[in-house]
Amino acid sequence: MASSDASLIDGREIAQSVRDEVSQAIDAWTTDRRPPFLTAVLVGDNPASKAYVRGKEKDAAEVGIETETLQFDADLPEEKLLGTVRDLNDDPSVDGILVQLPLPDHIDDRGVIDTIDPAKDVDGFHPENLGRVMRGTPSFIPATPYGIVEMLDRCDIDPEGMDAVIVGRSNIVGKPLANLLMQRDQNATVTVCHSRTEDLAAHTRRADLLVAALGQANFIGADMVSKATVVIDVGINRVEDDSTDRGYRLEGDVDFDAVRSKASWITPVPGGVGLMTRAMLLKNTMTAARLQASA
Ligand code: GUN
Repeated sequence: MASSDASLIDGREIAQSVRDEVSQAIDAWTTDRRPPFLTAVLVGDNPASKAYVRGKEKDAAEVGIETETLQFDADLPEEKLLGTVRDLNDDPSVDGILVQLPLPDHIDDRGVIDTIDPAKDVDGFHPENLGRVMRGTPSFIPATPYGIVEMLDRCDIDPEGMDAVIVGRSNIVGKPLANLLMQRDQNATVTVCHSRTEDLAAHTRRADLLVAALGQANFIGADMVSKATVVIDVGINRVEDDSTDRGYRLEGDVDFDAVRSKASWITPVPGGVGLMTRAMLLKNTMTAARLQASA
């Protein structure tokens, strides 16, 4: 490794410290209350979604959160799914509800998200929760942007005064992250770029903090970074690779090897933001248990 290479933001280590904290909070919580309970809903057999849900179950078990996964065939009628969500809303033994996305095409994601009780919406996708993030009084922060802000904080990287450039305008990452970074506790100056942005590289090259969340493997190359930038790679792309047992490898949206020599800090894939997303969901589930207990 050349001495000028970026420092690594170690998602494994940071996610572990978040998990340890949640675990301690749950130990204290369960001295006189039941453990937090999370229900995941999985529709169809998208392999990535199944893997995510399995990972979430495993993480939850490790910190003392109880889980169930309701699994349905891909042809589940939308009304059945909405009925399931309403039942979970009404069930006092369920603290958190997570409907894994994407849903099959015949189901309107937004209608399902809107049906989740905002007090059980551990993904933070309900419009009430997104609105609260925008206003700066969040209940649940979507796990990926929450994890990014937490990573920066735990590496003592202060976004204040930085030109933060986010590539990707999703409701799950880009939009909520832009809101978080512009809040008074972060004080970054935020630009959100997307597929119709003209001269994208002109924006990314002046970034002090660059967040790649567009979902295209290795999209951000060395030519798109011009200074000692903090580079956060949200991409988790499956790239076909017959030399691996699984037949694919995971790559980020950033060309890690090329960008590393220019950046000041960089997150790897795997071992970066993805682990933080999982850890912050646990934190949100603990929050849901507190809300449920005080309801
Ligand atoms: N699909 C991709 N990311 C997520 C996530 O964070 N939560 C849910 N429910 N589905 C997803």
